[in-house]
Amino acid sequence: MAEVIVVDTPEAAGLLVGAHIAREVRAHPRFTLGVATGSTPLPVYQALRAEAAAGTDFTATSAFALDEYVGLPPGHPESYRAVVDREVTVPLGLDPARVHVPDGGIDGIETAGERYETAIAAHGGVDLQLLGIGRTGHLGFNEPGSSFGSRTRVKTLTERTRVDNARFFDSWEDVPIHCVTQGLGTILDARHLVLLAFGESKAEALAAAVEGPLSASMPGSAIQLHPRVTVVVDPGAASLLRFRDYYRWAQDHKPAWQGI
Ligand code: F6R
Repeated sequence: MAEVIVVDTPEAAGLLVGAHIAREVRAHPRFTLGVATGSTPLPVYQALRAEAAAGTDFTATSAFALDEYVGLPPGHPESYRAVVDREVTVPLGLDPARVHVPDGGIDGIETAGERYETAIAAHGGVDLQLLGIGRTGHLGFNEPGSSFGSRTRVKTLTERTRVDNARFFDSWEDVPIHCVTQGLGTILDARHLVLLAFGESKAEALAAAVEGPLSASMPGSAIQLHPRVTVVVDPGAASLLRFRDYYRWAQDHKPAWQGI
């Protein structure tokens, strides 16, 4: 089972996860971070910025993004390439050559998934993958029905996800329909998964992912197949967890040396 850590606020989650990543980077400067976009990981990036300002050197660190929209004009501010550059590459001082995002350009889209898989494999995989979860239960953009063995490929976003992400675009028509996303099988290859969720709107998907049955209808449940998963949530997202009292008890009695 995943380790579930309930913290008071998203900021506290960011500090906890950010401190862990920074420790790893100091110990292994060539660390490879799997980055998610959307709102959820922002407190982690905020904490990492403070770690960089305090002296952690990220110049040898690599990053692989989970996903990208298909067909946005190059440089579109809401393309995940632009978001990752803005939130991670520039503020942390990563070498742009070490930051990878799937290619969502229409030209060559048929091979975008395969090319991304090759790049991850050639690099030697991802050490720690940050994940958010969608209200549909998606990880990356693996919407319900995605195979647990899936690899990076083009997927169609659900209406629910398009509605949720419409806040980033000027009009409904601008919200992309397709994406290139790491598959669930790709995500499960990362050596450590850190899933974050905040707010009651995520409670149902989170409980189903962490405690529900394994099902392609709930892509988040794929985390139950991974040997090392840390779930960091606030009380709202934790509100439907059946075993939340036990998770708190386990945290209160956790040996300090174990880290996250
Ligand atoms: C983003 C991603 C998605 C988001 C999810 C939650 O790269 O892969 O799975 O993590 O849609 O989005 P937010 O964090 O905006 O609620």
